[in-house]
Amino acid sequence: MLVSATEMLKKAKEGHYAVGQFNINNLEWTKAILQTAQELNSPVILGVSEGAGKYMTGFETVAAMVKAMDKSLGITVPVALHLDHGTYDGCYKCIKAGFSSIMFDGSHYAIEENIDKTKELVAVAHQLGLSIEAEVGSIGGEEDGVVGMGECADPAECKQIADLGVDMLAAGIGNIHGKYPANWAGLSFETLDAIQQKTGAMPLVLHGGTGIPEDMIKKAISLGVAKINVNTECQLYFQEATRKYIEAGKDLEGKGFDPRKLLAPGFEAIKEIVKIKMELFGSVGKA
Ligand code: 13P
Repeated sequence: MLVSATEMLKKAKEGHYAVGQFNINNLEWTKAILQTAQELNSPVILGVSEGAGKYMTGFETVAAMVKAMDKSLGITVPVALHLDHGTYDGCYKCIKAGFSSIMFDGSHYAIEENIDKTKELVAVAHQLGLSIEAEVGSIGGEEDGVVGMGECADPAECKQIADLGVDMLAAGIGNIHGKYPANWAGLSFETLDAIQQKTGAMPLVLHGGTGIPEDMIKKAISLGVAKINVNTECQLYFQEATRKYIEAGKDLEGKGFDPRKLLAPGFEAIKEIVKIKMELFGSVGKA
């Protein structure tokens, strides 16, 4: 059964660890992440961007697949199905489709409009038992067409949004979607510290989890981050393993062309990176 992310993130913040949000693209991704979470007894959040939702033929398909797979695999750890960087309309679509959690990314609006829309969606989501994430400041780079300039969030604005009753807050602290450039300045811990002081017990969300050095991840968790999003790194692991399989000519041997064989190395690679991240985030054994 899918659950909202509220309880798992509250526990994570109190216990000084973070729950991973791993974005899904298809059946293999979903199965790899769910199985790894179960094997490690870890809570998990499956993230779905609007682009990935469209790719999988719509949010209803995604919700139906995830719910059925959660059941067929006998998953007992807490799993939240969460919209990633949702638009206002996207949030309503996911609520209708049966997601257990949504993110409304109003960071590109003026703060007043971000507040108004977030407030409305908090009321709707909570009435139906869903959790909701909001965003202040912006995450740099591009993810599925969502482009951000990467400006650091204003801690006072973070408090305004946190006070609306959101369950988790994403705040730009110099993080970027995708690979980090060689001249990246690193996370702004000064900003993160100021945000946590203003928002108290609010679980903070670190987007752009791919490629952030381990020491920065640990420091971010110590300063209140309770959810970390990872997308690109699973894609890179999948790509590398698939490339090796084909370059080794394995697809040409026997029934190596069978999609179940062709996609197997990439599937195992996703499991491997999800395990590495769950161990680093400290969520293993916390289900
Ligand atoms: P990465 O693709 O950099 O891991 O970021 C994922 C993310 O933040 C999803 O919202």
